[in-house]
Amino acid sequence: MKISERFIQELLEKVDIEQVVSPYVNLKRRGKTLVGLCPFHNEKTPSFTVYPESHSFYCFGCGAGGDVISFVRRMENLDYVEAVKSVAQLAGVSMPEDGYDDSLSKQRMRLLGANREAARFFNACLFEPENRHALDYFLNRGLTVNTIRRFGLGYAPDDWWRLINHLREKGYTEQELVLANLARRSDKNGKANYYDNFRNRVMFPIIDLRGNVIAFGGRVMDDSKPKYINTSDTPVYKKSNGVFALNFAKNANDNKLILVEGYMDVIALHQAGFTNAVACLGTAFTSEQANLLSRYADEIMICYDNDGAGKQATERALAVLGKTGLKLRVVQMTGGKDADEIIRKHGKERFADLLSEAANKTEYRLLEERAKYNLSTDDGKLRFLMSAAQILASCGSIEQDIYANRLSNELGVGVDSIKAQIKASASKLRRAEEARRREETQKMLSKSCEDKNNPERAGNIRAAIAEETLIASFMRNPDFYNKLKDKVSAEIFVTSFNRRVFECLAEGLDGGFEPSLSLFSASFTPSEMDSIARISLKKETLGNTLSECEDCIRVLKECSESTAVDAAAVSDEEFLKLFKKK
Ligand code: UTP
Ligand code: MN
Repeated sequence: MKISERFIQELLEKVDIEQVVSPYVNLKRRGKTLVGLCPFHNEKTPSFTVYPESHSFYCFGCGAGGDVISFVRRMENLDYVEAVKSVAQLAGVSMPEDGYDDSLSKQRMRLLGANREAARFFNACLFEPENRHALDYFLNRGLTVNTIRRFGLGYAPDDWWRLINHLREKGYTEQELVLANLARRSDKNGKANYYDNFRNRVMFPIIDLRGNVIAFGGRVMDDSKPKYINTSDTPVYKKSNGVFALNFAKNANDNKLILVEGYMDVIALHQAGFTNAVACLGTAFTSEQANLLSRYADEIMICYDNDGAGKQATERALAVLGKTGLKLRVVQMTGGKDADEIIRKHGKERFADLLSEAANKTEYRLLEERAKYNLSTDDGKLRFLMSAAQILASCGSIEQDIYANRLSNELGVGVDSIKAQIKASASKLRRAEEARRREETQKMLSKSCEDKNNPERAGNIRAAIAEETLIASFMRNPDFYNKLKDKVSAEIFVTSFNRRVFECLAEGLDGGFEPSLSLFSASFTPSEMDSIARISLKKETLGNTLSECEDCIRVLKECSESTAVDAAAVSDEEFLKLFKKK
C-alpha cells in the first residue's frame, strides 16, 4: 500500500518549494528560477537550481534532483512516508489515517521510544543512593546538578541485564534493543543471549534538533579502556552526521558556534555560559557535519585540543569547513589540554580571552608554519617566507597586502619581494587549478553518457535520448501523450529504467493527474529521482512539437527492431540538431 497519489497532488499544490528549500539554502532569484549553493555537495559557485513552476530542483554540479519530497528526504535523511509527513506538517495538511505503509517509520518511532526510555532510566540510576560514586564523578569534574539535569546525563549500572529488563517491562523486544544498539547479542550453543551494551559507565545522551534521543556516549570512571563507548550506526543515528549539543546551541542566536572535541568540553562550556558550544562526534569531521553547522552559524570557532591529534583534526576541519563559506577562527588553546581543563583551571574569563584572540584561518596557518623554522637564520627566514607565500597565494588581495606588510616588518625583508613571491605562488596555484578543472571537464564529458540508474543508457544512447525526449515532452504537454497513446507503448522502450519511468508517467496521466516529478517519488529511490529530474529538465530544450515526438517513436521502433548496438554515440545536442533540421 502507498500514500494515495491524489493526496500527494493536493499536498504539493499547497506547498511552495521555495519555502521548503530556503531554510537550508540561501536562494537568489534568477529569472524564473532560484539558485543557491547546493546543500548536497560542496561548491563555491551556485549550481543548485529551484524551478518553482514545476515544483522541482536540480543541481547542475552533482546531479541531485527531484521534487519537494525527495528534497526533504535527502536533507533530513528520512524515508518516503516520513518525508511526506514532514512536508504535510509544513503545509498544515493532516495525513490520511490509513492507506500507506509506514512500517519503516514505525520501527524508527519504536527505536526512538526505546532510546528515550533508556535515557530516563540512566538518569534515574544516576540519582540512586547506591550509585553515588557515579554522581560524584560528575560533581568532582565540576558539573552542577542543574547541568546534569539539563543535559540529561546518567549512569548505566554495573550489570548485564538491568536496562534490558527495564525496557522489556516497557514493552520493547530484545531485537529492537539490539537494533538501537542498547543491547548486544551473543550466540552460545545455538542459543541467543542478550546483554546491555553500556555497563558501569556515565552516560551522555545525544539529542537531535527535534528533541529525539538518537544515541549515547558512555564513559568509564577510571583509566580503563576504551574511554568512551558510543552508539554505532542504527536506523535512527548516523555517527558521521552526529553533532552533540546542537539542539541547545542552535538557540544561542549569535550566529557563532564553538567547535570542541569532547562531550565534557561542550558541557563545561555550556555551564560556563558559552551555550553555543558543540562537538562533532565520530572520528573524522565530515561534510555532512559541516553543512549542518553552516545552517545554524556563519562563524565557527575551532577549539580542538592542544596536542598533535587536535592539530590534525583542526587542519581537517578547516579543509572541510572551508568549502562551506563559513567564517573560521582557530582558538589557540593555551593553559590546558582542552576547553574543559582550561575553564576548570583558569576560569571562564580566560576562555573568553582566548576566544577574542582567536586567529583567522590565514593567521593560524602562518603561525603553525612559522613554528617549523628557525627565524634567527637567513635560511630559516627564506624557507618560512616561501611557504608563507604559498599560504597567502590563495587569499584575497587585501589580505595579501596586510600580511605582506606584517611579514616585511617582522622579518626585515622588503615588502615588494614578498609580494612578488606571493604573485609567483598564486600563478602556480592558478595553473594547477586550471589543469585540475580541465581534467575534471574531460572526465565529466566522458561520463555524460553514463547514468548509474540506467546502466543501458551509454550503450543505447540514441534510443535513450529518444526515450528521454518523449518522456520530457509528455510531461510538458500531456495532450501529446493523449494524441500519441496508441502509437507508443512500454514495449518500444529500449532501456528498462526509462521504460519504468514511462510506465509510471503513463499510469499517472491515464489517471488524470498533472504531470510532475511527484508522480514518481513514491516508486523511485532518491537516487533514481536524480535521473528523472535530469530527464524532465529537457523540457527547457525541447522542440516542443508533436512531430518531434513522432520522430522519437520512429527512432525507438527502429532501435528496438535492430538488435545491433549503436556504437556511434550521438550527443544530446547533436540529436536535437538533427531534429531541428527536419
Ligand atoms: P578525548 O580523549 O580528548 O577525551 O576525546 P575528552 O573529551 O577530553 O574526555 P574526558 O575529558 O577525558 O572525559 C575527545 C572525544 O572523542 C571521543 C569522545 O566523543 C570524546 O569526548 N572519544 C574519545 C571516543 O568516542 N572514544 C574514545 O575512546 C575516546
Ligand atoms: Mn577532557
